[in-house]
Amino acid sequence: MRLSLSFTVLLASLTRVLAAAESDVLDLTATNFESVVNPADLILVEFFAPWCGHCKNLAPQYEEAATTLKAKNIPLAKVDCVDQSELCQTHGVSGYPTLKVFRKGTPTDYQGPRKADGIVSYMVKQSLPAVTNVKAADHAEFIKADRVVAVLYVNEEEEPPAPNFVKTAEKHRDDYLFGMVTDAEVAKAAGVTPPALVVYKKFDDGRVDYPSATVSSVTDAKLVSWLKENSVPLLDEVSGENYSLYAESGLPLAYVFVDPSAEGKDAFVETFKPLAKSYKGKINFVWIDAIKFGEHAKMMNLQEAKWPSFVIQDIEKQLKWPFDQSKELTIEEVAHFVKAYSEGRIAPSLKSQPIPETQDEPVFTLVTKEFDQVVFDESKDVFVEFYAPWCGHCKRLKPTWDQLGEKYAAVKDKLVIAKMDATENDIPPSAPFRVAGFPTLKFKPAGGREFIDYEGDRSFESLVEFVEKNAKNSLNVPAQDTAAAASTPVAAETPVATQDTQGQTHVEL
Ligand SMILES: *[C@@H]1O[C@H](CO)[C@@H](O)[C@H](O)[C@H]1NC(C)=O
Repeated sequence: MRLSLSFTVLLASLTRVLAAAESDVLDLTATNFESVVNPADLILVEFFAPWCGHCKNLAPQYEEAATTLKAKNIPLAKVDCVDQSELCQTHGVSGYPTLKVFRKGTPTDYQGPRKADGIVSYMVKQSLPAVTNVKAADHAEFIKADRVVAVLYVNEEEEPPAPNFVKTAEKHRDDYLFGMVTDAEVAKAAGVTPPALVVYKKFDDGRVDYPSATVSSVTDAKLVSWLKENSVPLLDEVSGENYSLYAESGLPLAYVFVDPSAEGKDAFVETFKPLAKSYKGKINFVWIDAIKFGEHAKMMNLQEAKWPSFVIQDIEKQLKWPFDQSKELTIEEVAHFVKAYSEGRIAPSLKSQPIPETQDEPVFTLVTKEFDQVVFDESKDVFVEFYAPWCGHCKRLKPTWDQLGEKYAAVKDKLVIAKMDATENDIPPSAPFRVAGFPTLKFKPAGGREFIDYEGDRSFESLVEFVEKNAKNSLNVPAQDTAAAASTPVAAETPVATQDTQGQTHVEL
């Protein structure tokens, strides 16, 4: 027993060693980076840190993708940024993992998924011309080669809308697969008369034809919105892996929160299909596992764990409209609700902490309920830090931010240094920005409603310099305060949203 167990362990570790040795991911260092990357027509490079959790999750997926893509002559490589810090700095890496696609040494950001099959499909798309010239023999396979495949059938390559189609394809090569057919026989077999535009999809009805009367005059904008409309299923489950698909469509997302183990769940979800159909292209509909994504339900401002529940989220504006949980959720009620939403008749729900009874910290505690009153007070300059309690950069900034509050305490009728917990307080629609990473620092000069982004380092001196430069009120701070301000600067950190912060804020699932 003991013997066989240790044998199994040995075997397992042996397999692991073998697997590691057989990795298809190239290791890059300062020594070989240019000689590998610069000549490559196409190569994907991951900049990672051994301690980073997202990198560890990505590793097996990346390995698997590398093996699949090796057969297609598309190399995948990685750089250990702890070992090769200078190399990573040269490439402007500020969060982990950072993935970049290089063509002959020129980088673009990788914008694909982090699962093996997603990486493969993204990189295959990168390797093809933006529009594939589809021949008779390849047509059947091509139209099934991706989730969404757009095919233009024309009599010749220059016939409208072909030139526009190519332009759109070049811009959206990351999003869809584009093909062009000039063979009349193939068009006939596909059941169309050129010019014709068809989207082939791996879901719903499998195929949608663009209205034939207007196809030759289709513009880039129309084509893109039509593709977006057809790129997500009518009503499917949303998960952490494919939330981005919905986010990228740019449309509001309507969620049916259900307990998947509840009896009749499928039939219940099914009743939403006609509604989803009537808002197709305007609102995307999904169902979501309310048990697994309870936290997301809270972020959508659902008050209690009561299922089913319904919420509309405007992902771009970061606003949400939960259906009143004290009411019974019937499809009729939801239909009224969606109609009212689409006509702009209901206000978004804004989560707010209660207004503090006293303000006894060096920094003003801002909550949504007081946002307009405090931030848009035209007589004051206002500097706000939007933070999350879990964010490490925010914790490190706290003493400096407090110090800033103390410095300007004597002139707080002219300048407000504030902080807002953006996980407990929604940014109201009156603010002309959304918060995409933490901390986000915004300055609103007195006398207006415009905001200035703070993008400097997070040292006390730099913050003071910025305030003095942008404040519209004259800030005569008593001299001893300034003298007390000598400080050790907090280590400067890149304020841009890193992959980690993005993961936490954009993709909330
Ligand atoms: C999203 O993920 C869920 C769960 O894995 C899956 O059932 C669904 O089909 C996916 N949707 C799309 C559009 O890929």
